[in-house]
Amino acid sequence: MKDTIRQLIQQALTRLTAEGVLPEGLSPVIQVENTKDKSNGDFASNIAMMLAKPAGMKPRELAEKLVAALPADAQLSKVEIAGPGFLNFFQNSDALAQRLEAALADARLGVRKAGPAQRVVVDLSAPNLAKEMHVGHLRSTIIGDGVARVLEFLGDEVIRQNHVGDWGTQFGMLLAYMQEQPVGSDAGLADLEGFYRAAKKRFDESPEFAERARQLVVQLQAGDAECLRLWHRFNDISLSHCQALYDRLGVKLSMADVKGESAYNDDLANVVADLKAKGLLSESEGAQCVFMDEFKNAEGNPLPLIVQKAGGGYLYATTDLAATRYRANVLKADRALYFVDQRQALHFQMVFACARLAGFVPASMQLEHMGFGTMNGADGRPFKTRDGGTVKLVDLINEAEERAYTLVKGKNPDLDDAELRQIARAVGVGAVKYADLSKHRTSDYSFNFELMLSFEGNTAPYLLYAYTRVASVFRKLGKDLSEIGGQIALVAEQEQALGGKLAQFGELLNNVADKGTPHLLCAYLYDLAGLFSSFYENCPILSAEDEAVRNSRLRLAALTGRTLKQGLELLGLDTLERM
Ligand code: ARG
Repeated sequence: MKDTIRQLIQQALTRLTAEGVLPEGLSPVIQVENTKDKSNGDFASNIAMMLAKPAGMKPRELAEKLVAALPADAQLSKVEIAGPGFLNFFQNSDALAQRLEAALADARLGVRKAGPAQRVVVDLSAPNLAKEMHVGHLRSTIIGDGVARVLEFLGDEVIRQNHVGDWGTQFGMLLAYMQEQPVGSDAGLADLEGFYRAAKKRFDESPEFAERARQLVVQLQAGDAECLRLWHRFNDISLSHCQALYDRLGVKLSMADVKGESAYNDDLANVVADLKAKGLLSESEGAQCVFMDEFKNAEGNPLPLIVQKAGGGYLYATTDLAATRYRANVLKADRALYFVDQRQALHFQMVFACARLAGFVPASMQLEHMGFGTMNGADGRPFKTRDGGTVKLVDLINEAEERAYTLVKGKNPDLDDAELRQIARAVGVGAVKYADLSKHRTSDYSFNFELMLSFEGNTAPYLLYAYTRVASVFRKLGKDLSEIGGQIALVAEQEQALGGKLAQFGELLNNVADKGTPHLLCAYLYDLAGLFSSFYENCPILSAEDEAVRNSRLRLAALTGRTLKQGLELLGLDTLERM
């Protein structure tokens, strides 16, 4: 609808320009917003205020001319001028009801991508395999998964890339320690974190062990078969730990999506050689660096992007440069989104700028760092265990499910245990994911079990419960959502408000896809659930006397149910029919 209104305004502007009312050469960004108060219509634009000055008119005077020049449109019932010169647009309820009917008849709820479909690489999760996944990996995994799902729903082709840290000096230490284990035993690796700590302890205490670790790195890099065998075994076990977590979290990632740092090893020397051939390399203290004008430190001195260390070793940046090139040339991506901690922002700015400078990616390819803030504890300090250690992801999920179990059991003591467990899983995991997804990704956020498991506010339990309320209407009726005849008519104020919100689903998803911000979808679903509540309280559904009214309300409820379910699924949450 906003697009339609923008186009109408654009046509009016063109007409006024042709008539000489407006000067030539104005190309304003036309802003159209949803109104908060429905007495001001459904949408508003400040265009008259924006153009009053260049047009040499009072805003209200220009607004009047604009309204007169607006082409008629069946979707609008009227346009009014308000306050200093706002244009307020009122939707035509019949046209809106028809759009809702079209959504109801469509498996994709009438949602279309605004632009052409793209091939999009989503770089997500990417833990370092040397250790177990901890809470620091949660945000990338969950936010990346949510955005990937939305892109797919809109029709983009998504290629997930799990750029795991599977290379580097820690592996020498781990391999040395593996060699010290009883032959054929992987027992120690069941607890990766403990294994890492034990290996580190040996490394710090024994110079002889440390020396062996260093030699093993060299041998590994030279492709020694025995080293590679151990390294593969280690990574396989570590990756299977990750996979178990992805499965529990309901994250769409599989082993096939793993393309770790090591996958780019063979290309690193080429990357450096190509940068050199293009004249982009400078030597600084023995290291090979790229200096770019736009990157300076606080003192105004040039900042290097180091691609090869003095000793010849390659770095994180070299691998990422190789990855941009692979994503452009082999995967042929139109767009690549990197869901990585905000603290790596400078790294990505420099890597992207360098990749462009070197021509590793075509100018048309979008490279976007989707940074996110830190997950803190309820006290606002970095999230830690009681004794100050990092919190393992698996422990966090276990606790969430346990708490959800106690909570749900308290509310429904009579449910059988298997069903309670199933509900607790959906609520517990859903709460952890939703709490993360519902915050703007760039801000830090406080992890708080009490808040995320509350049935009030913008939380998973609230939304899952809202969905079960819609489902219960149809359960009572003994009919499926798809079996309701009749037609939607938006008469009551609450019906119009709910209908207006439902019609915004497609535009909202396009926004989430553009900006990589699932919190917008959370906010939308939360609003939708609230509007459904007031509709439900004010507009009797099953007890409506008139059959046409009952059917209309049922159809509106059906579309609400499907939109809630689809929205939650795009966020990676399992819905429940009852709880
Ligand atoms: N393994 C890295 C870390 O834990 C994240 C990798 C993100 N992706 C990338 N292409 N650099 O910090």
